[in-house]
Amino acid sequence: MIVRVYPSPDESARAVAERIAIALKHKPDLVLGLPTGKSPIPAYAELRRMHGAGDVDFASARTFNLDEFAGVTADHPGSFRRFMDQHLFSHVNLEPSRIHFLNGAAGDLDAECERYEAEIDSAGGIDLQLLGIGSNGHIGFNEPGAQLSARTHRVELHDVTRRDNAALFGGEPGQVPREALSMGMATILKAAAIVLIATGERKAKCVERMVRGPLTTQLPASFLQTHRHVELFLDRAAAALLT
Ligand code: GLP
Repeated sequence: MIVRVYPSPDESARAVAERIAIALKHKPDLVLGLPTGKSPIPAYAELRRMHGAGDVDFASARTFNLDEFAGVTADHPGSFRRFMDQHLFSHVNLEPSRIHFLNGAAGDLDAECERYEAEIDSAGGIDLQLLGIGSNGHIGFNEPGAQLSARTHRVELHDVTRRDNAALFGGEPGQVPREALSMGMATILKAAAIVLIATGERKAKCVERMVRGPLTTQLPASFLQTHRHVELFLDRAAAALLT
């Protein structure tokens, strides 16, 4: 793993945005995997700024988001699709047909997962996968447990994850759907390169276990140790236990 540590979350975000802009310059038809959560928000803000300044071009890119809540339509205020529109999609030159998302409101959620997995395959796989890390070490919505799923699948969300996502549902953990759809571990690990963003003291313990700990299904992010190209973009607080 390549570990990059920046003095502040904003500096880390600028470096992530720059990393994406360079990847898009090299390969304008880049297939980008995207996360939600608070951690990537400053990087998305920087990408919006760079796009406004003519420094990043999404015209030929395609995007696949990691996950979505089950039972939630794209226009629901709590949906990840809405989050992405707000923070990135509606501000940059990405054609809607190039934006790929799991449909949490699909009638047959298992079929929806298969459709999405096939869609990623037919795009030739993900070139650059951005990730955050959940406070329990999840990536996407691959929650800690006795086993992990390889492919895009339905997930039962842990209480801590529902609490962490409550802001999207009026601050009420009880309003956060119990179920979600998520890319699987193999879907994520097949990406050619992975960039993980973690900031703040709250993530320090998970970051240390992800980098130094054993591979364990109890910390899904630990499987990133098996990938040949992972870059961690951390602020000092998130990197504090990596001395
Ligand atoms: C959600 C998303 C994850 C994200 C995590 C961390 O659970 N499904 O992809 O990494 O939140 O969120 P935050 O960055 O707000 O800590």
